[in-house]
Amino acid sequence: MEYLIEGGNPLRGELRVYGAKNCALALLGATVLTDETITLTNCPNITDIDNMLMLLGVMGKKITRSGDEVSVSGSLTRTYAPEKIATLLRGSALILGSTVARYGQVVLPLPGGCAIGARPMDIHLCGLRKLGISVLDAGDLISCSGYPVGAEYSMRMASVGATENLLCACVLAKGESTLINCAMEPEVVALEEMLVQMGAQINGIGTSVVRINGVAKLHGTTFKIIPDRIVAATYLAAAAATRGNLTVNECNTGHLQRFIEVLQPHFDLKKNENSVHLEPKCKSFGYGTIETAPYPGFPTDMQSLLLALAACSDGETVIKENLFENRLEHNANELNKMGADIKVCGNTAIISGRDLIGAEIVAKDLRGGAGLVIAALAAHGTSRLEGVEHISRGYMALSENLNRVGANIENRLV
Ligand code: EPU
Repeated sequence: MEYLIEGGNPLRGELRVYGAKNCALALLGATVLTDETITLTNCPNITDIDNMLMLLGVMGKKITRSGDEVSVSGSLTRTYAPEKIATLLRGSALILGSTVARYGQVVLPLPGGCAIGARPMDIHLCGLRKLGISVLDAGDLISCSGYPVGAEYSMRMASVGATENLLCACVLAKGESTLINCAMEPEVVALEEMLVQMGAQINGIGTSVVRINGVAKLHGTTFKIIPDRIVAATYLAAAAATRGNLTVNECNTGHLQRFIEVLQPHFDLKKNENSVHLEPKCKSFGYGTIETAPYPGFPTDMQSLLLALAACSDGETVIKENLFENRLEHNANELNKMGADIKVCGNTAIISGRDLIGAEIVAKDLRGGAGLVIAALAAHGTSRLEGVEHISRGYMALSENLNRVGANIENRLV
C-alpha cells in the first residue's frame, strides 16, 4: 500500500479519537488470566489487534467481535504461541506473564529487532525469575515454566511491557509482590484498573511502586479501552504542521499534557478534559530542546510527530531520543529528501526548520510513518509514501479521517 499525499491544505474541522492500541494489547494479554468473559469496548480496528486476537484464538480463546466491542472467553488449549502469528507483532509478548501465571508454562517465539531498535526482554525475564519462574531464553524463543510466587523486584528501567507482564504474573502469584520502578503510562494504569475489576488486589495504582496481593482466581469484566493519546497527538501535529484549525474530541487531554506543553507557545490550544482545539497563534519558531522519557515525560511515540513538525517550522529544535536508538535516523533521512535540514548525531537530531517539498519517501515503522504523513501534508506538492502497511498496524483509517478535515491523501493498493 502507498499514499499519494498532496500537501498544502490546512486541516479544519473535528476528529474523534478511538481506543488505544497499546492499551488494547495489554488488556487482551490479561484475558488469559481468567476463563470468564472479558469484554473490551472502544477497541480499535487495526492490524495489530487483528493479529493479537488471531493469536489468542489459535491458542484456544473464544473471540467474538462486533464493531468496537470484543469479548474473549474460555481457557487456552495450548500454551505454545505459533511462530507465524506471534512474530507478526511485538505485542504478542504481552501473553507471557498471564499465561505462565494461569497455566504454569508458556513458549513464545519473538521477532528480532525491528525498525525502531533492539527490543530486549531481559527486564521481563529477570522479573519472572524473581517470581520463581524457570526461564529459558534462546534469543528468539522464550520458554517459561512454574507458577509465580510473590517477591520484590526492582526494574532497571521503567519498561511498559515488563511492568504489564509482571503485573499479570503477580496478580495470580502465591503471596505478596512489590514491583519497583514500574512504568506509569496511562496504558499501564488502565491494565491495573481492569485487573482490580477482575478481582486482583493491587495497591499503588499509577505509581512507580506497586504492591500486589496474589489471589487464587480472577473473574470476567467489561472495560472501556482508553483513548489513544498517540492518535490524538498525530491529529494535533497534522493540524499544527498545516497551520490548520482542528478540534480533537474523545481524547484524554491529561494524557497529552507534555505534548500540549510543547505546542503551547506556538498555538492557541483550548482544552477541557476530553477535547482540545488547536489553531495557530504566531510563527512556529522551533520547539527548543526536547528529550523523550517514560511517562509523564515526552513520549518516544510522539517524537516522530514532533520531528516532522520541527522540520517544517521556522526555527531550531533539538530532539534527543532516549528510548529506541533507531527511531530518529530513518525519518530524518526521509524528511531531508523533502528539503528538511536535520542532522543526526547518535541519538540527537538538530533540526533547522524549512519549507518542505513533496518527495518519494518510505515509512519503516508505525509512528515514523505517521510523522512522514504529517510532513507530506505540510509540504508543497505531492509526496508518494511507501510502507503504509506499518501505519495500518496502529492507525484506523488514517487517510480517510484526515481527508474528512481537508487533507488530500489517495490510498493506493500497489
Ligand atoms: N527495555 C529493555 N529490556 C526490557 C524491556 C525494555 O532494555 O526487558 C528497553 C527498551 O529497549 C527501550 C525501553 O526499555 O529502550 C522502553 O521499552 P518498553 O519496554 O517501555 O517498551 P515496550 O513495552 O516494548 C511499549 C509500546 C511502544 C512504546 C513503548 C514506550 C506496546 C505494545 N508498545 O513498548 O509502542 O513506544 O512502550 O512507551 O505497548 C508503538 O505503539 O508504536 C510502540 C512502539
